Amino acid sequence: MPLPRLLITRRVYVDVLESLSGVFEIQHNQDKDEPLSKSELMRRLADKEYLLSTVVDRIDEDVLAAAPRLKCIATGAVGTNNIDLKACAARGISVTNTPDVLTETTADFAWTLLMATARRLTEAEQYLRQGQWKGWSFDQLAGVDVYGSTLGILGMGRIGSAIARRAHGFGMPVQYHNRRPAADSAGARYVDKETLFRESDFVVLVVPYSPETHHIVAAKELALMKKSACLINIARGGVVDDKALVQALGNGTIRAAGLDVFEGEPALDPGFLPLSNVVLTPHIASSTRATRGAMMQLAADNLLAHVHGRPLLTQVS
Ligand code: DGY
Repeated sequence: MPLPRLLITRRVYVDVLESLSGVFEIQHNQDKDEPLSKSELMRRLADKEYLLSTVVDRIDEDVLAAAPRLKCIATGAVGTNNIDLKACAARGISVTNTPDVLTETTADFAWTLLMATARRLTEAEQYLRQGQWKGWSFDQLAGVDVYGSTLGILGMGRIGSAIARRAHGFGMPVQYHNRRPAADSAGARYVDKETLFRESDFVVLVVPYSPETHHIVAAKELALMKKSACLINIARGGVVDDKALVQALGNGTIRAAGLDVFEGEPALDPGFLPLSNVVLTPHIASSTRATRGAMMQLAADNLLAHVHGRPLLTQVS
Protein backbone atom coordinates (compact mmCIF):
# COMPACT_ATOMS: atom_id res chain seq x y z
CA MET A 1 0.00 0.00 0.00
CA PRO A 2 1.29 3.47 -0.82
CA LEU A 3 2.18 5.54 2.24
CA PRO A 4 0.10 8.62 3.04
CA ARG A 5 1.78 11.77 1.76
CA LEU A 6 3.02 14.41 4.21
CA LEU A 7 4.31 17.92 3.57
CA ILE A 8 6.60 19.41 6.24
CA THR A 9 6.87 23.08 5.40
CA ARG A 10 10.07 23.95 7.33
CA ARG A 11 13.18 22.26 8.68
CA VAL A 12 12.57 20.03 11.71
CA TYR A 13 15.05 18.27 13.97
CA VAL A 14 16.33 15.01 12.50
CA ASP A 15 14.88 12.85 15.29
CA VAL A 16 11.44 14.29 14.56
CA LEU A 17 11.84 13.55 10.87
CA GLU A 18 12.96 10.02 11.70
CA SER A 19 9.87 9.42 13.83
CA LEU A 20 7.73 10.10 10.74
CA SER A 21 9.72 8.31 8.09
CA GLY A 22 8.53 4.87 7.10
CA VAL A 23 5.00 5.90 8.05
CA PHE A 24 4.61 8.76 5.58
CA GLU A 25 6.01 9.60 2.17
CA ILE A 26 7.52 12.91 3.16
CA GLN A 27 8.18 16.06 1.17
CA HIS A 28 10.34 18.23 3.43
CA ASN A 29 12.25 21.49 3.37
CA GLN A 30 15.32 20.34 5.33
CA ASP A 31 17.99 21.89 3.10
CA LYS A 32 16.64 25.29 2.20
CA ASP A 33 14.25 25.89 5.12
CA GLU A 34 12.85 28.88 3.23
CA PRO A 35 9.25 29.94 3.91
CA LEU A 36 6.99 28.66 1.12
CA SER A 37 5.11 31.24 -0.90
CA LYS A 38 1.35 30.79 -1.01
CA SER A 39 1.49 29.42 -4.56
CA GLU A 40 4.30 27.01 -3.65
CA LEU A 41 2.39 25.83 -0.58
CA MET A 42 -0.68 25.23 -2.75
CA ARG A 43 1.38 23.39 -5.35
CA ARG A 44 3.03 21.11 -2.80
CA LEU A 45 -0.24 20.36 -0.99
CA ALA A 46 -2.12 19.25 -4.11
CA ASP A 47 -1.47 15.53 -3.47
CA LYS A 48 -0.94 15.52 0.32
CA GLU A 49 -3.11 14.00 3.03
CA TYR A 50 -1.06 15.41 5.91
CA LEU A 51 0.62 18.72 6.71
CA LEU A 52 3.13 19.68 9.41
CA SER A 53 3.10 23.45 9.27
CA THR A 54 4.43 26.38 11.25
CA VAL A 55 3.33 29.72 12.53
CA VAL A 56 4.36 31.42 9.28
CA ASP A 57 2.27 29.26 6.92
CA ARG A 58 -1.01 31.01 6.20
CA ILE A 59 -3.61 28.32 5.63
CA ASP A 60 -6.68 29.98 4.24
CA GLU A 61 -9.59 28.97 2.03
CA ASP A 62 -7.49 29.19 -1.18
CA VAL A 63 -4.82 26.90 0.23
CA LEU A 64 -7.40 24.41 1.47
CA ALA A 65 -9.16 24.43 -1.89
CA ALA A 66 -5.85 23.47 -3.50
CA ALA A 67 -5.47 20.53 -1.09
CA PRO A 68 -8.48 18.28 -1.76
CA ARG A 69 -6.92 15.21 -0.08
CA LEU A 70 -5.85 16.94 3.14
CA LYS A 71 -7.01 15.18 6.34
CA CYS A 72 -4.96 16.61 9.17
CA ILE A 73 -2.89 19.73 9.83
CA ALA A 74 -0.46 19.66 12.75
CA THR A 75 0.92 23.12 13.39
CA GLY A 76 4.11 23.32 15.39
CA ALA A 77 2.82 26.22 17.45
CA VAL A 78 0.25 26.92 20.11
CA GLY A 79 -1.21 29.87 18.18
CA THR A 80 -3.55 29.00 15.33
CA ASN A 81 -4.46 32.47 14.08
CA ASN A 82 -2.74 31.69 10.75
CA ILE A 83 -5.16 28.83 10.05
CA ASP A 84 -8.77 29.22 8.98
CA LEU A 85 -10.20 26.78 11.51
CA LYS A 86 -13.80 27.19 10.31
CA ALA A 87 -12.84 26.34 6.75
CA CYS A 88 -10.88 23.32 8.00
CA ALA A 89 -13.88 22.11 10.01
CA ALA A 90 -16.15 22.56 6.99
CA ARG A 91 -13.84 20.32 4.97
CA GLY A 92 -13.50 17.74 7.76
CA ILE A 93 -9.80 18.51 8.25
CA SER A 94 -8.50 17.99 11.79
CA VAL A 95 -6.17 20.62 13.24
CA THR A 96 -3.78 20.15 16.15
CA ASN A 97 -1.43 22.57 17.94
CA THR A 98 1.28 22.42 20.63
CA PRO A 99 0.02 23.69 24.00
CA ASP A 100 1.75 23.00 27.34
CA VAL A 101 5.16 21.97 26.00
CA LEU A 102 6.13 25.61 25.44
CA THR A 103 4.51 27.19 28.49
CA GLU A 104 7.48 27.48 30.86
CA THR A 105 10.02 28.41 28.17
CA THR A 106 7.75 31.14 26.84
CA ALA A 107 7.10 32.45 30.36
CA ASP A 108 10.88 32.54 30.94
CA PHE A 109 11.22 34.66 27.83
CA ALA A 110 8.54 37.12 28.90
CA TRP A 111 10.72 37.66 31.96
CA THR A 112 13.85 37.90 29.83
CA LEU A 113 12.30 40.78 27.91
CA LEU A 114 10.87 42.33 31.06
CA MET A 115 14.23 42.36 32.85
CA ALA A 116 16.13 43.48 29.76
CA THR A 117 13.68 46.33 29.26
CA ALA A 118 13.67 47.43 32.91
CA ARG A 119 17.47 47.45 33.16
CA ARG A 120 18.21 48.71 29.64
CA LEU A 121 20.27 45.63 28.89
CA THR A 122 20.63 45.89 25.11
CA GLU A 123 21.22 49.64 25.27
CA ALA A 124 23.93 49.14 27.92
CA GLU A 125 25.63 46.44 25.91
CA GLN A 126 25.70 48.56 22.77
CA TYR A 127 27.12 51.46 24.77
CA LEU A 128 29.95 49.22 25.87
CA ARG A 129 30.58 47.57 22.51
CA GLN A 130 30.64 50.93 20.74
CA GLY A 131 33.41 52.13 23.05
CA GLN A 132 31.29 54.84 24.64
CA TRP A 133 32.01 53.81 28.25
CA LYS A 134 34.52 56.25 29.62
CA GLY A 135 33.98 55.43 33.30
CA TRP A 136 31.49 54.87 36.12
CA SER A 137 28.91 57.46 37.19
CA PHE A 138 25.95 57.49 39.57
CA ASP A 139 23.16 57.86 37.03
CA GLN A 140 24.68 55.81 34.25
CA LEU A 141 22.02 53.91 32.28
CA ALA A 142 19.67 54.01 35.28
CA GLY A 143 16.74 51.66 34.83
CA VAL A 144 13.63 50.93 36.89
CA ASP A 145 13.16 48.36 39.64
CA VAL A 146 11.43 45.11 38.93
CA TYR A 147 11.29 43.87 42.53
CA GLY A 148 8.16 45.16 44.27
CA SER A 149 6.65 46.75 41.15
CA THR A 150 3.19 45.83 39.85
CA LEU A 151 2.89 43.32 37.04
CA GLY A 152 -0.13 43.38 34.73
CA ILE A 153 -0.92 40.44 32.46
CA LEU A 154 -3.35 40.71 29.57
CA GLY A 155 -4.42 37.12 28.81
CA MET A 156 -4.39 34.73 31.78
CA GLY A 157 -4.04 31.35 30.10
CA ARG A 158 -1.35 28.74 30.72
CA ILE A 159 1.51 31.06 29.80
CA GLY A 160 -0.01 34.01 31.66
CA SER A 161 -0.25 32.01 34.85
CA ALA A 162 3.33 30.71 34.45
CA ILE A 163 4.47 34.34 34.14
CA ALA A 164 2.46 35.26 37.24
CA ARG A 165 3.99 32.40 39.28
CA ARG A 166 7.48 33.73 38.58
CA ALA A 167 6.46 37.16 39.89
CA HIS A 168 6.14 35.83 43.45
CA GLY A 169 9.92 35.63 43.72
CA PHE A 170 10.12 39.30 42.80
CA GLY A 171 7.66 40.37 45.50
CA MET A 172 5.33 41.75 42.84
CA PRO A 173 1.60 42.23 43.16
CA VAL A 174 0.10 40.78 39.98
CA GLN A 175 -3.11 41.81 38.29
CA TYR A 176 -4.60 40.48 35.09
CA HIS A 177 -7.39 41.00 32.63
CA ASN A 178 -9.20 38.38 30.57
CA ARG A 179 -12.61 38.24 28.98
CA ARG A 180 -13.62 36.41 32.16
CA PRO A 181 -11.81 35.48 35.43
CA ALA A 182 -9.39 32.60 34.90
CA ALA A 183 -9.43 29.21 36.61
CA ASP A 184 -5.70 29.35 37.41
CA SER A 185 -4.52 32.91 37.94
CA ALA A 186 -1.60 31.98 40.25
CA GLY A 187 -2.80 34.44 42.88
CA ALA A 188 -3.19 37.36 40.45
CA ARG A 189 -6.05 39.83 40.98
CA TYR A 190 -8.70 40.18 38.26
CA VAL A 191 -9.12 43.80 37.12
CA ASP A 192 -10.80 45.56 34.23
CA LYS A 193 -8.70 46.40 31.21
CA GLU A 194 -8.46 50.08 32.04
CA THR A 195 -7.18 49.39 35.57
CA LEU A 196 -4.66 46.96 34.17
CA PHE A 197 -3.13 49.60 31.91
CA ARG A 198 -3.45 52.46 34.40
CA GLU A 199 -1.97 50.74 37.45
CA SER A 200 0.69 48.33 36.19
CA ASP A 201 4.40 49.07 36.02
CA PHE A 202 4.88 46.28 33.49
CA VAL A 203 2.13 45.12 31.15
CA VAL A 204 2.76 41.74 29.53
CA LEU A 205 0.60 40.73 26.55
CA VAL A 206 -0.18 37.03 26.19
CA VAL A 207 -3.57 37.10 24.41
CA PRO A 208 -4.15 34.97 21.30
CA TYR A 209 -4.54 37.01 18.13
CA SER A 210 -8.06 37.20 16.65
CA PRO A 211 -10.29 39.88 15.12
CA GLU A 212 -11.36 40.70 18.72
CA THR A 213 -7.79 41.26 19.91
CA HIS A 214 -6.58 43.13 16.80
CA HIS A 215 -4.96 46.34 18.11
CA ILE A 216 -6.24 45.66 21.61
CA VAL A 217 -3.33 47.88 22.61
CA ALA A 218 -3.49 51.12 20.65
CA ALA A 219 -2.98 54.83 21.39
CA LYS A 220 -5.83 54.88 23.92
CA GLU A 221 -4.42 52.06 26.05
CA LEU A 222 -0.86 53.41 25.81
CA ALA A 223 -2.10 56.80 27.02
CA LEU A 224 -3.60 55.13 30.10
CA MET A 225 -0.23 53.67 31.10
CA LYS A 226 2.15 55.27 33.61
CA LYS A 227 4.93 57.30 32.00
CA SER A 228 7.35 54.99 33.83
CA ALA A 229 5.68 51.78 32.59
CA CYS A 230 6.99 49.15 30.18
CA LEU A 231 5.03 47.08 27.66
CA ILE A 232 6.06 43.52 26.81
CA ASN A 233 4.57 41.71 23.80
CA ILE A 234 5.16 37.96 23.43
CA ALA A 235 1.66 37.34 22.00
CA ARG A 236 1.35 38.19 18.32
CA GLY A 237 2.00 41.11 16.07
CA GLY A 238 -1.33 42.79 15.40
CA VAL A 239 -2.30 42.67 19.07
CA VAL A 240 -0.44 45.97 19.34
CA ASP A 241 -0.86 48.91 16.99
CA ASP A 242 2.87 49.19 16.24
CA LYS A 243 2.57 52.70 14.74
CA ALA A 244 0.94 53.96 17.94
CA LEU A 245 3.63 52.22 19.99
CA VAL A 246 6.46 53.82 18.02
CA GLN A 247 4.90 57.19 18.77
CA ALA A 248 4.36 56.42 22.45
CA LEU A 249 7.97 55.29 22.87
CA GLY A 250 9.27 58.30 20.95
CA ASN A 251 7.33 60.93 22.85
CA GLY A 252 7.64 59.45 26.33
CA THR A 253 4.03 58.35 26.78
CA ILE A 254 5.52 55.12 28.18
CA ARG A 255 9.05 54.42 29.27
CA ALA A 256 10.00 51.34 27.27
CA ALA A 257 8.90 48.20 25.47
CA GLY A 258 10.17 44.68 24.90
CA LEU A 259 8.83 43.09 21.72
CA ASP A 260 9.19 39.58 20.33
CA VAL A 261 6.42 39.84 17.73
CA PHE A 262 5.48 42.44 15.13
CA GLU A 263 2.70 43.36 12.76
CA GLY A 264 3.69 41.97 9.36
CA GLU A 265 6.81 40.17 10.67
CA PRO A 266 9.51 39.49 9.67
CA ALA A 267 9.21 43.12 8.56
CA LEU A 268 8.92 45.55 11.41
CA ASP A 269 7.95 49.17 11.65
CA PRO A 270 11.19 51.06 10.81
CA GLY A 271 10.24 53.57 13.50
CA PHE A 272 11.37 51.08 16.17
CA LEU A 273 14.96 50.89 14.93
CA PRO A 274 16.34 54.25 16.08
CA LEU A 275 14.63 54.01 19.49
CA SER A 276 16.93 53.03 22.36
CA ASN A 277 14.03 52.33 24.73
CA VAL A 278 12.79 49.23 22.94
CA VAL A 279 14.26 45.73 23.13
CA LEU A 280 13.57 43.83 19.91
CA THR A 281 13.78 40.06 19.35
CA PRO A 282 12.75 37.94 16.32
CA HIS A 283 9.83 35.80 17.59
CA ILE A 284 11.98 33.48 19.73
CA ALA A 285 9.99 33.26 22.97
CA SER A 286 9.63 29.47 22.74
CA SER A 287 13.01 28.91 21.12
CA THR A 288 15.11 26.59 23.22
CA ARG A 289 16.41 23.38 21.68
CA ALA A 290 14.35 21.31 24.11
CA THR A 291 11.10 23.21 23.67
CA ARG A 292 11.20 23.64 19.91
CA GLY A 293 12.04 19.92 19.73
CA ALA A 294 9.08 19.09 21.96
CA MET A 295 6.78 21.28 19.84
CA MET A 296 7.85 19.59 16.61
CA GLN A 297 7.59 16.14 18.17
CA LEU A 298 4.11 16.85 19.52
CA ALA A 299 3.04 17.96 16.04
CA ALA A 300 4.56 14.76 14.61
CA ASP A 301 2.91 12.61 17.28
CA ASN A 302 -0.46 14.09 16.39
CA LEU A 303 0.05 13.09 12.76
CA LEU A 304 1.09 9.60 13.82
CA ALA A 305 -2.00 9.34 16.03
CA HIS A 306 -4.22 10.39 13.11
CA VAL A 307 -2.70 7.96 10.66
CA HIS A 308 -2.97 5.08 13.13
CA GLY A 309 -6.58 5.95 13.98
CA ARG A 310 -5.77 6.91 17.59
CA PRO A 311 -7.24 9.95 19.39
CA LEU A 312 -5.37 13.16 18.58
CA LEU A 313 -3.23 14.41 21.45
CA THR A 314 -3.91 18.14 21.23
CA GLN A 315 -6.76 18.76 18.85
CA VAL A 316 -7.94 22.30 18.20
CA SER A 317 -10.75 21.47 15.80
C1 DGY B 1 3.42 29.73 19.07
O1 DGY B 1 3.57 28.59 19.52
O2 DGY B 1 2.33 30.18 18.76
C2 DGY B 1 4.67 30.53 18.90
O3 DGY B 1 4.40 31.84 18.58
C3 DGY B 1 5.55 29.84 17.87
O4 DGY B 1 6.75 30.47 17.81
